[in-house]
Amino acid sequence: MWCPNIFNRFGALLTNSWRRGLWVGVRLGSVKLMKIAIIYASVHHGNTQQIAEAMAESGSVDLYSLSEAPDSLSSYQLVGFGSGIYVFRMHQRLMRWIKRRSTSGQCAFLFSTRGTRYFDIYHRVARQLITSRGFSLCGEFSCRGYDTFGPLSLLGGINRGRPNQNDYARARQFVRQLSKERYANASVLRSVCDES
Ligand SMILES: Cc1cc2nc3c(=O)[nH]c(=O)nc-3n(C[C@H](O)[C@H](O)[C@H](O)COP(=O)(O)O)c2cc1C
Repeated sequence: MWCPNIFNRFGALLTNSWRRGLWVGVRLGSVKLMKIAIIYASVHHGNTQQIAEAMAESGSVDLYSLSEAPDSLSSYQLVGFGSGIYVFRMHQRLMRWIKRRSTSGQCAFLFSTRGTRYFDIYHRVARQLITSRGFSLCGEFSCRGYDTFGPLSLLGGINRGRPNQNDYARARQFVRQLSKERYANASVLRSVCDES
């Protein structure tokens, strides 16, 4: 009499494991399907490049410096544009590059590193540009970066050691979250860090 019971339990165990395996497989499959391109300009200390590289660890990401960016982004479901902030704006060459692209509703996010606060103002032009080119803005990331611009070099610069491990972790988490939630959530995901 005990035999069928054991078989039943064993059978249930197998079924549950199979179901769990299927669920994990589907999740992995859906993550794999999402292709992400990240294009960056990083000319001062390589700060934005470090953030871009951390982001690229978070999925199926093709990472391009601006000079090696592909002509077409149509095979990507999510595109990230990033740079340092140079005189209140994201990099002019990156802006010119985006101006020559157009799309219809492709999801894009912006990211930057900067010396000071005012992220909201610094991203304004880029935000307007990407939406005017037909992208749908899904997220914005920004953190502090080592800055020795102008007279700051005399003082040894500001934000020494930034971006740091904490910024990299936030950058990875940001892309992971965007790639998971972008279909479900219509709002713009923001991750902005000013503390050290
Ligand atoms: C020419 C120049 C202008 C800058 N202007 C600003 C600025 O307006 N606001 C700001 O917060 N940081 C400014 N910075 C600091 C950079 O945004 C910061 O160091 C950034 O992390 C540089 O990124 P990168 O190393 O990827 O080039 C400026 C730096 C340079 C070289």
